[in-house]
Amino acid sequence: MSRARRSSGDGLDALLAAREMVIVAGSGGVGKTTVSASLATAAAVELGGRVLVITVDPARRLADALGVGALGNTPTQVDPELLAAASGRAPEGELWAAMLDTKAGWDELIARHAPDPELRETVLANPLYRNLTSRFVHSHDYLAMEQLHELHGSGRYDLIVVDTPPSRNALALIDAPRRMREFFGSRLLKWLTTPYRSKVFSAASRPFTQIADRILGSHFVEDIAEFFTLFQTMEPTFVRHADEVEALLGDLRTAFVVVTTLEAAPVHEAIHLSTELTRRDYPLAAIVTNRALPKSYTGRAAATSARRLGAEAADESSAMVATVAERLEADAEQVAAVLTETAERFGEIALIATREAERRSELSELAPLLVTAPPLEHDVNDLSDLLELARHLRSPAR
Ligand SMILES: Nc1ncnc2c1ncn2[C@@H]1O[C@H](COP(=O)(O)OP(=O)(O)O)[C@@H](O)[C@H]1O
Ligand SMILES: [Mg+2]
Repeated sequence: MSRARRSSGDGLDALLAAREMVIVAGSGGVGKTTVSASLATAAAVELGGRVLVITVDPARRLADALGVGALGNTPTQVDPELLAAASGRAPEGELWAAMLDTKAGWDELIARHAPDPELRETVLANPLYRNLTSRFVHSHDYLAMEQLHELHGSGRYDLIVVDTPPSRNALALIDAPRRMREFFGSRLLKWLTTPYRSKVFSAASRPFTQIADRILGSHFVEDIAEFFTLFQTMEPTFVRHADEVEALLGDLRTAFVVVTTLEAAPVHEAIHLSTELTRRDYPLAAIVTNRALPKSYTGRAAATSARRLGAEAADESSAMVATVAERLEADAEQVAAVLTETAERFGEIALIATREAERRSELSELAPLLVTAPPLEHDVNDLSDLLELARHLRSPAR
């Protein structure tokens, strides 16, 4: 840990100050990347310490928002002067950003785990390795875990905020360590790693290897056996890391934040995800409802105003319409049409806001904290936008 963070405030601030890792999950397009970057930026500016935001969902937007063009596996510091300019103050801490690159990730992983340089080179040069690492089921999730292990274990960061792929995948991310252990214990791996010669010449597997050779090239089976035999020698380290990551994710150093908008489908996903996290005993700390309509739209007063406005606009002798038209130097009929439309649309929006409020209250049952951000007028593209969003997320007034 480089520096202590300020542990003032409550809500999300308390979370950002106390936890070492915040994992942001939710459906696609709800604002996970934006919220992750926003929370990390605010934490770096206000709470201090060294804060890293890492995305496992390679969205260019995060890179753009953080002003770092080509993010890779290696964390890059966001220019402190840019951070100061965007926040209008001297930041308390540092902001770092990284993005997961699957291919480079595997190579680094092998390099890290290979017991000796010769083995490392053999694995890296293996054609099957090159082929498999791009297709290995859940390899992306496993790598994310492995990278978290590495970055968290380095002790270089006080807080790591992790953006994730869409929600079902977020569970896959959590399951990755277990799946890795299972893979090493699997019969498939045992079969693959039985000595090549005996397998090729055994009567049972001959048809398979012959077909495989014909379709995939004569070295396929040899490559596969070699690859997995090498891979297996790295089992103890892989499995130890998987165990450690699993422990880290499950204890109070970590907090899960589920992000959702208030449309039906993302809310459904958020409920599924939150319920699953809790059922599996992972520390779900907060749900963020993003791009939510203001609660005030749902009030009786607003509905009454809209209804009266509609009635006035429909009244041909309305003094109000005449006054507005005069004020705007516009045609009274046009003004009446605009006001009628506005009143009707408000009714529709209020209905949506009412539905949103119901969904919010359903979500509030699932996590200790529910915070809401409104739709900003513009896309969230730069550090100032991120800080603007963070002000909403961190504001205690709910
Ligand atoms: N509160 C908000 N107000 C306005 N635009 C937002 C807000 N939250 C997110 N966005 C925009 O929505 C889009 C999707 O957000 P993003 O964070 O990439 O979603 P995800 O990572 O969940 O797929 C982006 O263009 C982002 O700028
Ligand atoms: Mg994203």
